[in-house]
Amino acid sequence: MEHLSFLELAKILISFAICAPSGHNSQPWTFQITENQIIISPDFNKRLEVVDGSNRELFISLGCALQNLQTAATHYGYNSDYVYKEGKIYVNFYQQDNCEEDTLFNAIKQRHTHRGEFTGGIIPDELLQNIKTEENTNVLVVKAGEPSAEIICAKISEGNTIQMSDTAFKRELISWMRFNKKHIEETHNGLCYNVLGFPATPKPLGKKIVGMFLNPKAQNKTDDGVNASASHFAVFSVKENTEENWIALGKTLETFLLRITAEGLAYSFSNQPCEIPQLNAETKSQLNMEYYPSVIIRLGYGAAPKHLAPRENVF
Ligand SMILES: Cc1cc2nc3c(=O)[nH]c(=O)nc-3n(C[C@H](O)[C@H](O)[C@H](O)COP(=O)(O)O)c2cc1C
Repeated sequence: MEHLSFLELAKILISFAICAPSGHNSQPWTFQITENQIIISPDFNKRLEVVDGSNRELFISLGCALQNLQTAATHYGYNSDYVYKEGKIYVNFYQQDNCEEDTLFNAIKQRHTHRGEFTGGIIPDELLQNIKTEENTNVLVVKAGEPSAEIICAKISEGNTIQMSDTAFKRELISWMRFNKKHIEETHNGLCYNVLGFPATPKPLGKKIVGMFLNPKAQNKTDDGVNASASHFAVFSVKENTEENWIALGKTLETFLLRITAEGLAYSFSNQPCEIPQLNAETKSQLNMEYYPSVIIRLGYGAAPKHLAPRENVF
C-alpha cells in the first residue's frame, strides 16, 4: 500500500476502529491524525454516568477500537504499538516488508452483538481452544449448566432486578434508544429499534412502550431465555481497576470477539453483574476469581442479523 499517504491510511484504519462495540453504542471516542500517529481520546460527553460511573466500560470500548485499528494496520502492512499517557492513546506505525495477513481483519466489519436467543447448539471444545488462546489469561470460560455458569445466570438475574428498579438507569438507557429511521439518522449511534427487533414508532410512543417493558420480571424472562440457549459464558477480568488495564482488556475482548466472528459463532453481552459494585464483589468471590470481573459475554450459535448498529461519521 505504498501509494497511500499516512493521512489516507489513517482514515482507512479509523474506519475500522469505529466498528468496535461500545456500551449502549455510545461510541465514546475521538480520533486525531498527526504526521505519523493516530491519537485516540475518550469522549466524556458520551459517558454513561449511571451504568458506568467509573468509566470502565468507556475505556474498554476504547481498547476494542484500538484493537480494530491495530488489526487493520497489520492488514495494510504496518506493525503498530501504543502508549497511554495523559488520558490519550498514542498509536505508532511501522511499515513492514512482509507483514503477515491478519485472519481477523475480515471479521472486523462482520462482528456484531447478537440480539435475542441463540439456537441452543453447543460449541465443541477444540473450537473454543482456537478462540481462547494462552494469551487470554484473564478470561474465564465456563460451559452452560456448570455450577459457575449457574452463578453467572443468578447474578444476571439479580442485576436485572436492581437495574430495572432504578429510575436513573432506565432513564439513561431510554435516552440511548432510537425509535425510528429519522431518529437513527439524527445521531447514528445508540440502541436502534431495528437492531433490537422492535417496530418503528414515533419517539414519544416508543419511550412509553419501552418504559412499560423495562421491569425486572420482563427483563429476567428475556435473559432467562437467552441464558438457556447459550453454549458457554466468558468472564473477562482485570487485576486492578486502572484506565490502562481497561484499555488492555478491551483489546483482549475485541480479539476474542473477532475470533468468535471468524469461527461463525455468536455472542451477546450481559454485563449487569460487573456494573453493580455489590454484585461485582459477589461474582468475583463466588466464582473464585483472582481478578475483578469487568465484562461478561454469552457464546453460542445464532443467525446473522438483518440490521447492524449504525456508526457516526468521525471525519
Ligand atoms: C464494555 C461493553 C459493555 C456492554 N454491555 C452490554 C450489556 O450489558 N448488554 C447488552 O445488550 N449489550 C452490551 N454491550 C454491547 C453494545 O450494546 C453494542 O456493542 C453496541 O450496541 C453496538 O452494537 P454492535 O456490537 O452490534 O456493533 C456492551 C458493549 C461493551 C463494549
